[in-house]
Amino acid sequence: MTTQQPLLALITGATSGIGKVTALELARQGFHVVVLARNADKAAQTRLEIQQVAWPGRRVDVLLCDLSDLSQVRRAAEEFNQRYAQLDVLVNNAGLVFGTERETSANGHEMTFATNHLGPFLLTSLLFDKLQQSPAARIVNVASMAYQFAKPDFNDLDAAHHYSPMRAYANSKLFNIMFTQELARRLRQRGIHNVTTNSLHPGVVASNFGSNSTWFTRAFYKVAAPFMTSSEDGAKTSIYLASDPAVAQTSGGYFVKQQPEAVKSGYNTLENARRLWQESERLAGQPFLSEA
Ligand SMILES: NC(=O)c1ccc[n+]([C@@H]2O[C@H](COP(=O)([O-])OP(=O)(O)OC[C@H]3O[C@@H](n4cnc5c(N)ncnc54)[C@H](OP(=O)(O)O)[C@@H]3O)[C@@H](O)[C@H]2O)c1
Repeated sequence: MTTQQPLLALITGATSGIGKVTALELARQGFHVVVLARNADKAAQTRLEIQQVAWPGRRVDVLLCDLSDLSQVRRAAEEFNQRYAQLDVLVNNAGLVFGTERETSANGHEMTFATNHLGPFLLTSLLFDKLQQSPAARIVNVASMAYQFAKPDFNDLDAAHHYSPMRAYANSKLFNIMFTQELARRLRQRGIHNVTTNSLHPGVVASNFGSNSTWFTRAFYKVAAPFMTSSEDGAKTSIYLASDPAVAQTSGGYFVKQQPEAVKSGYNTLENARRLWQESERLAGQPFLSEA
């Protein structure tokens, strides 16, 4: 990095796994790192760990927010927008799979949808002005190859009918990819060239992932952990998309092992992407690069 003012990176879900490794590496590269986290104690501990690898004089800050709660997202975005002049890298990394019983958020949305898609959609929209202030901003959305098992019902994004933890998770990860592609299209249409966005699959990673889910998912992740990728390896594609000059101009892509890959889902159509966008705006109560 050559600029005087350090580039600012906001990483969600940086208290654990892939997000923590991503935040540590961006701090090592000289970024001013802001950790978005829902747990104050974990956030404080993570901040100390990141501070140890940060460049001398570089700050590491915390933004407390439970992404499943839209009012917390609004409050956190407001705090961010008051504190900082611009945002150079936003890594929408936080995400999880829930249990057998369908749970709802503070706003009445199904928890997987609320945490993995709706909260990040609202956060990105509310921080968008600060991303536009950057000469070259990047939005990185951590999806999953689980998108291939998605069977979304666009009339029932909150899964009031047909809830299962894996289906809700797979749907949310397809939404991460569709959001990325649709956002890239809308940026291009408006001639906004200083903001790019890409999504990725990190691999099957031995992190804390699955700990909120069913006994089967927890057992699977425990038994399979020795054969899985480490969080360090899992974070490589996030770090690549967040900071590598090779992808500075790339937008709308889906990456696996730092390579672009085609998205193979019959649900991934332009019409569905538009529908998802409109529904997300409606449910979040926030217009975002709306179509005329
Ligand atoms: N692990 C895998 O095999 C795998 C595979 C494909 C994709 N992914 C994706 O990779 C991303 C990171 O997962 P990981 O494996 O690193 O899992 P992880 O170790 O469980 O970390 C998840 C992070 O998200 C945070 N988080 C969860 N709910 C939140 C909320 N409501 N508000 C704010 N933060 C919240 C967690 O905070 P706490 O520390 O407070 O819990 C934690 O920091 C996820 O999007 C996941 O879908 C993972």
